[in-house]
Amino acid sequence: MNAVVTLSRQPLRGRVRVPGDKSISHRALLLGALADGTSEVAGALLEGDCSATMRCMQALGVDIRVHDFDPRHGMGRLTIRGQGLRGLRAPAGPLDCQRSGTTMRLLCGILAGQPFDVMLTGDPQLLKRPMRRVTEPLRLMGAVIRDTDGRAPLSIEGRPLHGITYTLPVASAQVKSALLLAGLYAEGETHLHNPAPSRDHTERMLRAMGADIYEDGLSVRIRPARHLTPLQMEVPGDLSSAAFLIAAGVLVPGSDIIIENVGLNPTRTGLLDALWAMGACIEVLDQHTAGDEPVGDLRVRAGELRGTEVAGDLIPRAIDELPVLAVVAAQAHGQTVIRDAAELRVKETDRITAMTAQLRRLGARVEELPDGMVIEGPTSLRGAVVDSGGDHRVAMCMMVAGLVADGETVVQDAGCAADSYPGFIDTLAALGAQIRTSGG
Ligand code: S3P
Repeated sequence: MNAVVTLSRQPLRGRVRVPGDKSISHRALLLGALADGTSEVAGALLEGDCSATMRCMQALGVDIRVHDFDPRHGMGRLTIRGQGLRGLRAPAGPLDCQRSGTTMRLLCGILAGQPFDVMLTGDPQLLKRPMRRVTEPLRLMGAVIRDTDGRAPLSIEGRPLHGITYTLPVASAQVKSALLLAGLYAEGETHLHNPAPSRDHTERMLRAMGADIYEDGLSVRIRPARHLTPLQMEVPGDLSSAAFLIAAGVLVPGSDIIIENVGLNPTRTGLLDALWAMGACIEVLDQHTAGDEPVGDLRVRAGELRGTEVAGDLIPRAIDELPVLAVVAAQAHGQTVIRDAAELRVKETDRITAMTAQLRRLGARVEELPDGMVIEGPTSLRGAVVDSGGDHRVAMCMMVAGLVADGETVVQDAGCAADSYPGFIDTLAALGAQIRTSGG
């Protein structure tokens, strides 16, 4: 499916919601399954990557029911009948993680310490992604995992685990979470040192479930658990999905939009900090805490922007939003430099190469760095045919870029946007964008 976007001559206006947070929805499915008792989770994202997690947990014998499913946003209310930490069953065959790195890496942590063997596989896109970052420290904990040159398929032979002290080489929430989950099953304490803050949803949820987990600056320690209390929670809207609407709102002249109920966990808000530094007009309204997470409504208005430099600790706080920051930077006055972001090269695609190539097709001035990009703005973009390469975030970036490119932009293979944001095209259209889908 292609998306065809036309230069937006009218401002984007309206009040919208975004789907439930993908990272939190994955964790609710995984942790709810391990609780003693039934978890109730409202507002969960259930399509795309999260459907992979749901199916894997069902294959492990967990009864998960979906209620009030909203097909437009791929969301619903979940009841998860937790099996307890030791109640998962050996699956009948390999577990298919589809295109979801979060599913595969977090499952490794849960499955390494089970009393059965399991094989994890997925879509060709996922089979290219690095898994050693999680298998290596798990092996130090006593896990027996066979990989294919550091990549999936992974064959896990369940073994008793023991705690370790480990310094993560990259600030990865997936690796940190996998090791914390393994730590629930390990003898003794698992003590992790992170090079920089990364999203901390696992820590927040485990704490709410009564796990023995302590954070101290960049370190986190966990001790084995006997049982976890079920979850009663509402998943906030995903800031990583809102990011595309925020970018559209700051770019399309005259726009004024409100995005309701967005998760504002400080380990995720690097994009807002970068956009504020660029002079963007984004207000946080009605900030409050919902369950364990800060949330609020965002009012976004278009305006003049200037280039900025993003690097260091901000990078893991904005890792999934850096591609759309590059789109915004192409319209800002002056130079924007993104550094320390080599992790972008091992996402669903190499997002540095992909964004550079696709933005250049529209006439943007972008240079690749080994660990980032340099973007010169503002440039008058011209509509062209671009390609998502099967990467949901690249697809949405290019749809947003199309809103400010002259004429028509055709984004090929745009359907993958639903991996994280079902309903993205409808939401953009509801705000007044000229966007439609076409066969191909
Ligand atoms: C995620 C962590 C990040 C992020 C991904 C989701 C998570 O990956 O890019 O989209 O839910 O833990 P890394 O841990 O590889 O940085």
